[in-house]
Amino acid sequence: MVDLSTQYLGLKLANPLVPSASPLSRDLDTARRLEDAGAGAIVMYSLFEEKITHDEHHAARFFHQQAIGHAEAESFHPVPGDFTGYVDTYLEQLRRLKSALDIPVIASLNGTSLEGWLDYGAQLQQAGADALELNVYHVAASMDESGADIERRYVELLAESKRHVSLPIAMKLSSQFSAPIHLALQLEAAGADGLVLFNRFYQPDIDLETLQVVPRLELSTSSESGLRIRWVALLHGRVRLSLAVTGGFHTAQDVIKALLAGADVTQLCSALLIHGPGRLGEILDGLGQWLERHEYQSVQQMKGSVSQRHAIDPSAYERVNYISVLDSYTSPAGVLR
Ligand SMILES: Cc1cc2nc3c(=O)[nH]c(=O)nc-3n(C[C@H](O)[C@H](O)[C@H](O)COP(=O)(O)O)c2cc1C
Repeated sequence: MVDLSTQYLGLKLANPLVPSASPLSRDLDTARRLEDAGAGAIVMYSLFEEKITHDEHHAARFFHQQAIGHAEAESFHPVPGDFTGYVDTYLEQLRRLKSALDIPVIASLNGTSLEGWLDYGAQLQQAGADALELNVYHVAASMDESGADIERRYVELLAESKRHVSLPIAMKLSSQFSAPIHLALQLEAAGADGLVLFNRFYQPDIDLETLQVVPRLELSTSSESGLRIRWVALLHGRVRLSLAVTGGFHTAQDVIKALLAGADVTQLCSALLIHGPGRLGEILDGLGQWLERHEYQSVQQMKGSVSQRHAIDPSAYERVNYISVLDSYTSPAGVLR
């Protein structure tokens, strides 16, 4: 029997398949079905900075009205205990997931500033989170902020979060950094426990009739996994951080490649939103069968065996690969001369 277990953020998971932050954790029944299908852990949808801030203003208004309420209207006002805000709802869902599931539940905080939203990490810890994912979904649109400023802010956000919780923290990054390995090392030095590679940026669309900029969410395809696999392969063995990949992992083959490159965990979202929780079980079966066929005893044994450090041709992960890819192109017969 192949041992599928993996270590991630100091947690021992039964296997490396983890449903990522998304609506998959909003419904208890869906979360149970994911656990039944074999999920090694689950990441909750995010608690967003903007919604926390909005909630705080709303609560302040609510309690202000309580304080100045007119005598005859007093009876119409709900009592303070009746106010259930955004954060309360999130904490309640976290507690429900923790009591319904045996697998670790990773909470997610999502924002960009160094303001008070990071304080909520402590409440997530108290509510039972096993670890925290910190997603800094930052679009570098300011003319005043340099790349170095942005990296510094990521490191400060991580360090500040670490001051609030003793939980392991993984930072979910975008791929758009000039020097991802250097940033990873800075985050490690600041106390990060893991990285999640990479956020997908959702691109707004232009409606050609109304000329409005409209939001557009397209789910991923397997073709996006290659970017994550390359960077995991480059990071493996160079950092002590746990490494998770997210973005484009749809099949057992995609997952196997990520593990060979050095991932500790492969997060799944689009594949499960499209096919349902049962898809996770199919991928897990495919992973087990592949390991047996290739005579691996465990996921641990295969992990990183095709990372840059261990690859037969390490340069294949760097510029040399770019040149040989371009040279390998042949056009369909009759299109070009
Ligand atoms: C509908 C939807 C909701 C999501 N919500 C969150 C979220 O709350 N927090 C977060 O960090 N990522 C969120 N994500 C991103 C996913 O966790 C994941 O990183 C991304 O979809 C790439 O993985 P995939 O290719 O397997 O879909 C969401 C994705 C989708 C499609």
